[in-house]
Amino acid sequence: MMVNKNVIMPSILSADFLNLGDAIAECVAAGADWFHLDIMDGHFVPNIALGPGFVEACRRATDLPLDVHLMIENPDRFLEVFASAGANSISVHYEVCPQVRNTLSTIRNMGLNAGIAISPGTAVDEIKDVLDLVDLVLVMTVQPGFAGQGFIETSPEKVRRMRHLINAAGLNTHIQVDGGINSKTAPACAEAGADYFVAASAIFQHPNGITAGIRALQSSIELESR
Ligand code: DX5
Ligand code: ZN
Repeated sequence: MMVNKNVIMPSILSADFLNLGDAIAECVAAGADWFHLDIMDGHFVPNIALGPGFVEACRRATDLPLDVHLMIENPDRFLEVFASAGANSISVHYEVCPQVRNTLSTIRNMGLNAGIAISPGTAVDEIKDVLDLVDLVLVMTVQPGFAGQGFIETSPEKVRRMRHLINAAGLNTHIQVDGGINSKTAPACAEAGADYFVAASAIFQHPNGITAGIRALQSSIELESR
């Protein structure tokens, strides 16, 4: 089985917005691979965050790919807007996509990577029929809506089942974990088959700063991928 490289994706949600350019530059220098941008509408999740203008500002600040996580109802209405803002990948939530194959095909037809996200209450088996249309599966490891929550400890078992389904389908789809990811929780996710690691608090609230946060996360999962 081909082993994917572990990818670190700082979630900008917890960055200091007054010093966003510096925060992005420090992440890049410390070896971040992508940036993760959380878009929240106050309907699908009980919080409001970021928008296309913010994505566009990040696009001007870095050449690294931007991963847009849409936690919004009716995501179809906004796919083009986020593509134009500079997204390289867009993930939509399975729970709010009645025509999910259509939505994912639209994302891919715009030349972007497509992701399907599932909240903690959604079983991985529910998305097995769309795996052919996605580049990544986002297994939420907290309830979507806020940074800084505790990791749901049963998540690695979900990741393991997801990796099994992906392997059984003969695919090499990425598995992304998002929520409560830090140097303590990431290794079990890596061992279970995740290769994309999103972190907000563990990077931007690290007591020794952004670089230390990224390094700690990297080294915790290097051990797993050897
Ligand atoms: C939560 C978001 C996450 C969040 C992660 O709904 O999808 O990307 O920013 O924050 P931490 O890493 O602090 O749990
Ligand atoms: Zn996210």
